[in-house]
Amino acid sequence: MLQSHCEMEEISYNEIAIILNLLKSKRGFDFTGNKHSMLERRIKKRLLATKTKTYKDYHLFINENPKELDKLIDVLTINVSSFFRDPIVFEYFSSKILPTLVVEKLKKKDKSIRIWSAGCSSGEEPYSIAIELKEYFKKESLNFDVSIFATEIDNKSLKTAIDGKYSYDRIKNIRVDYLNKYFNVKDDLYILKNEIKKMVQFSFFDILDKKYLVPPESIFGDFDIVFCRNVLIYFDYNYQEIIFTKLYKSLNSKGYLIFGEAEAPIEKFINEFNKENAYFKIYRKNEY
Ligand SMILES: C[S@@+](CC[C@H](N)C(=O)[O-])C[C@H]1O[C@@H](n2cnc3c(N)ncnc32)[C@H](O)[C@@H]1O
Repeated sequence: MLQSHCEMEEISYNEIAIILNLLKSKRGFDFTGNKHSMLERRIKKRLLATKTKTYKDYHLFINENPKELDKLIDVLTINVSSFFRDPIVFEYFSSKILPTLVVEKLKKKDKSIRIWSAGCSSGEEPYSIAIELKEYFKKESLNFDVSIFATEIDNKSLKTAIDGKYSYDRIKNIRVDYLNKYFNVKDDLYILKNEIKKMVQFSFFDILDKKYLVPPESIFGDFDIVFCRNVLIYFDYNYQEIIFTKLYKSLNSKGYLIFGEAEAPIEKFINEFNKENAYFKIYRKNEY
């Protein structure tokens, strides 16, 4: 009979490290900064699925079945996402952040806006941003040069994002008028129209990359807004610091940083930002 999760032995830090090092050397994915409890829970899933009893057996199994590494990457990258995730945040984005930013930009005669969606999963987040921008600029009859960079380490998610085709369960949160306006339906798939697709530039980028501070496609970063939602929570403090330092440096003076509900700036940076209001995890970088 198959062992259940609770019957399984604890996996030690060393055992996890051996598996993660294998992943790093064979595939270049570094999960060593992810929280131990999360790693343990997820690696155990693969032990169950492969019917291997101990981590040593699992290690052997990987050596004999190299494709198992893909499955391991799949369970370790948590790709859950949805269009307009936490809809109230997107409402605040279009009703408060965009108007504020646009007024400030117009005063400086700057008609450009640069956004980064870091850890964009299968594209729901950057496409939601693109739809909000499209709607806002149309309503205000303004013509801005919009750049949205969306980056991800999971190639499978990235492919879905670039395809822009979603099944019904993925589009449930979208308002009907947006669905009608921005999607075509074919064979039970909701296909994003080109006018939205072309607004987002997707690329592979590891947010822990030591060489590049920002996605190379964006040249210098200089972002007005960075969305990094539901990414930081999976990393331990040291790695959160690496990621946070990058996000901080990539933002313009008075740039906005938009986190997921369970995230906040780490202690070291707390005085560098103002929290927009009591409800959301939205922060504005101090002016410099
Ligand atoms: C839970 S999803 C969040 C997606 C989206 N931001 C949202 O809030 O709906 C987290 C994403 O971060 C990606 N991710 C994890 N580690 C990463 C890294 N080092 N660099 C870039 N992306 C990463 C995962 O692959 C996953 O797609």
